[in-house]
Amino acid sequence: MSQPLPPSTFRRKKSEGHKFASLTAYDYPLGRLLDEVGLDFILVGDSLGMVVLGHPDTTLVTLDDMIHHTKAVARGVSQTLVVADLSAHSAETPEQAVASARQLIAAGAGAVKHEGGTEAIPIIQALRAEGIEVLGHIGMLPQRVREEGGYRIKGKTPQQAEQLIKDACALSEAGVFGMVLELVSPPLAEEISRKIPVPTIGIGSGQGCDGQILVTYDLLGMFPWFKPKFVQPKLDLASQIQGAVREFIGEARS
Ligand code: KIV
Repeated sequence: MSQPLPPSTFRRKKSEGHKFASLTAYDYPLGRLLDEVGLDFILVGDSLGMVVLGHPDTTLVTLDDMIHHTKAVARGVSQTLVVADLSAHSAETPEQAVASARQLIAAGAGAVKHEGGTEAIPIIQALRAEGIEVLGHIGMLPQRVREEGGYRIKGKTPQQAEQLIKDACALSEAGVFGMVLELVSPPLAEEISRKIPVPTIGIGSGQGCDGQILVTYDLLGMFPWFKPKFVQPKLDLASQIQGAVREFIGEARS
């Protein structure tokens, strides 16, 4: 059985031209299925708030939700790095961030993800000082979707672009092992990827990133009520499930 790629190797793998692939998981079967196919890491994303718990966005996900789902995923994963999201309001001070991250690590995560740019540096430094591996997340920040009024592309204006470059450089210097670029304008995402030594993992940010991540339910056509424009689903599981259930109803009632 192969060992999970340690976060400390991500920088080297980028310099060797490796292209990273990651997906989200929220439970044991999905964690186990994804573990068997060779992703670079599996994210227990707070997107679980929308695709599993039925909330309108990720802001209502609690640390307890994250711990519960991280434990379930970790039970199914033996060879892939598991990264768990620090949920909204679980990392508002460096002390709180460290305490929350320790609980996610105890639940089975090998690293945590934290949303935010330069303002998040004290949190990231505190986590790194405790030896906790951190994946950054800049661009569109789902935990701030209410303040921002929707899911919009970031980095189209020169001011936004300059800030995102500053964010990426600051996170890299603070010791993240990689960072998610969510809905970052593709030319800017490519520029950031060239500028920093740690891998950029894009979602809706074009092919110029060092890797790609998706919400697995979007990839599999499992959440038909909200379809991000940048995803080309590989399956239509929602229709297949309903088709199978209709067949079962027919058989049960025949
Ligand atoms: O919560 C999540 O699933 C994420 C990914 C979309 C990057 O943050």
